Order: sequence, then C-alpha cells, then structure tokens
Amino acid sequence: MKLSRKSHCKINLLLNVVGQRADGFHELEMLMLPVPIFDRLDFELLGYGIELTCNQPGIPTDSSNLACQAAESFAAKAGVTGGVRVHLEKSIPAEGGLGGGSSNAAATLLALNELHDQPLGQATLHELAAELGSDVSFFMQSQAAVAKGRGEIIEPVAPLEALAGKSLLLVRPGFGVPTPWAYQGLAKFPGVKNRPLGQADELAKRLANGSLAEAGDALYNSLEAPVFDKFPLLKLIKQHALANGAEAALMCGSGSTVFAICPDAATAQSLGQAIKSKFGQQSFVQTVPLPGDFPNTVA
Ligand code: C5P
Repeated sequence: MKLSRKSHCKINLLLNVVGQRADGFHELEMLMLPVPIFDRLDFELLGYGIELTCNQPGIPTDSSNLACQAAESFAAKAGVTGGVRVHLEKSIPAEGGLGGGSSNAAATLLALNELHDQPLGQATLHELAAELGSDVSFFMQSQAAVAKGRGEIIEPVAPLEALAGKSLLLVRPGFGVPTPWAYQGLAKFPGVKNRPLGQADELAKRLANGSLAEAGDALYNSLEAPVFDKFPLLKLIKQHALANGAEAALMCGSGSTVFAICPDAATAQSLGQAIKSKFGQQSFVQTVPLPGDFPNTVA
C-alpha cells in the first residue's frame, strides 16, 4: 500500500511570548499563516520497522526526525505492528522557522491513519500531534489560525482578506537558528515577554476586515529580540525589505527566515534579487502568491 502527500510550511504573522511555563516551555499566542511551499512524502507500508530516506543529505533520517517520531507514536497508539518506508523530498529549508519538520510529522500522522483505514479519531491524532512538537497541531489543518498555549491550541480564523493578492517573499540566509537557543535567549530580553494577551485575535480581525497598511505595524515576534541581537544580518534584511517596497516584514518563528509581504509578485521578485545580491548568494529566496492553495494530495 502506497500513498503520497504534500506538506506545506508556515509563517507567524504574530508570535507573542506571554511567559515561561512550569514545564519549561513558553506560553504563546501566535497568528499562523499556511504558506504554499511544499515538501513531498511518499509512504509505503512494510512488514516491519520504520525507514526514512531524504533527498537532502543534511536532514537526519534516524529517530531524531519528527516524521520518524510521528510514525513511531502512530504505531504505538494504533497498535500497528507493521512498518513503513517514507521518502521525503525536501523543498522547505530546515532551521528556518518555517515549521517544515512539524509539517512532515503532521502529514505522517494523517497519511498513516489513512493507510491503516483510520484507526485513530481526530482527538487522538491531535493529542499525538501536540506531544510531537508545539507546531505540529497547526499542520493538522491548513487554514490561518490563532495558536495558544505551547502552540497546540488551534483556533482557525476568518480568511485574512488584507493579504489576498499579495506576494510573499521568504529569505533564509545561509545559516539556521536552533529553536531552543532562540527561546533561551529571551532571558536577556525580559521586556519582550510583557506584552498583553489578545494581540493575535486582534491582528486576525484587522487582517480579515482591514488593509495590510493599517495592520502592518501590529505584526510582531518576541523572538526577534534575541535572534537579531546575535544575527544582525536578519534585522538588516528586514529593514531593507521595509525600505524597498514591502508592506510588512518580520522574522519567521525562531528564524532564520525573514518574510516580506509585497503588493505584487514583481515587487517581491525584484526585492528578493536585490537582497540576494546585497546580503548573500547562498540564501534561499522564494516568492509565493497569497493566500495559496493547500492540496495535500500529489497530482
Ligand atoms: O515543541 P518543540 O519541540 O517544537 O519546541 C522546540 C523548543 O522550543 C523547545 O524545546 C523549547 O526550548 C522551545 N519552545 C518553548 N516554548 C514553546 C515552544 C517551543 O520554549 N511554546
């Protein structure tokens, strides 16, 4: 039995760290937007074991990969004894704050449940997703959503009309940022954790009903403080984007990708080229239309 699935990425239009939790994680409120850049996963049921291969040599294919962990937790919960072979074709850059690994994990849970005739219900799948990682729950669906708690409480929002027809530019420089390091760095910037709650819902309303120009300054990411402090290049990229045609720009998640929302594809493409020649040819630079389509099936 075989199945192929696409797995998209995300940006955070808002990532407000509200405080530290007793479990070591941070309490968050986020406004998350699905982004139509896709990895592809090919699944084939096997007699025994979990095998992962990947087209990119730098991506781990052992049990440290979230897709393997998802397959393991699915098998344990569903009581499945057979195995699976997974081939992962990566297009989403790693350590970029785009959630690619979390998205692969969500796609794996959903695909295995389908291949085994849906032994697990939605609630159980969501429990497994939340255990696997803070961003995995968001990828169990494909709508813009407010995420709360650790990131696992997902509330889909009305379509963000202010973004319709815009073009999204993603720039990931030639280095990544490890997520735990970014959160640890918040300790040096206590001020960025003191913003009041309610901003994610407020921004979702403004982007559903108003214009990006009115809402652009409400885009916010607490993790910019520690990450820009260590990697000033990211701040320069953001500033360059805002000074050269972007209507909004922000770091994605814990970095290192910076996104810019541009009025049209031509602006996004020329801004991307300019950033690449100014800040580094080794960067991943990609432009995608918003809001984008999210079929998880492979044509
Ligand atoms: O949940 P996930 O494994 O993706 O988180 C990676 C790391 O990011 C955690 O180990 C933690 O250091 C940090 N994190 C956090 N608070 C969150 C989400 C992630 O401190 N809500």
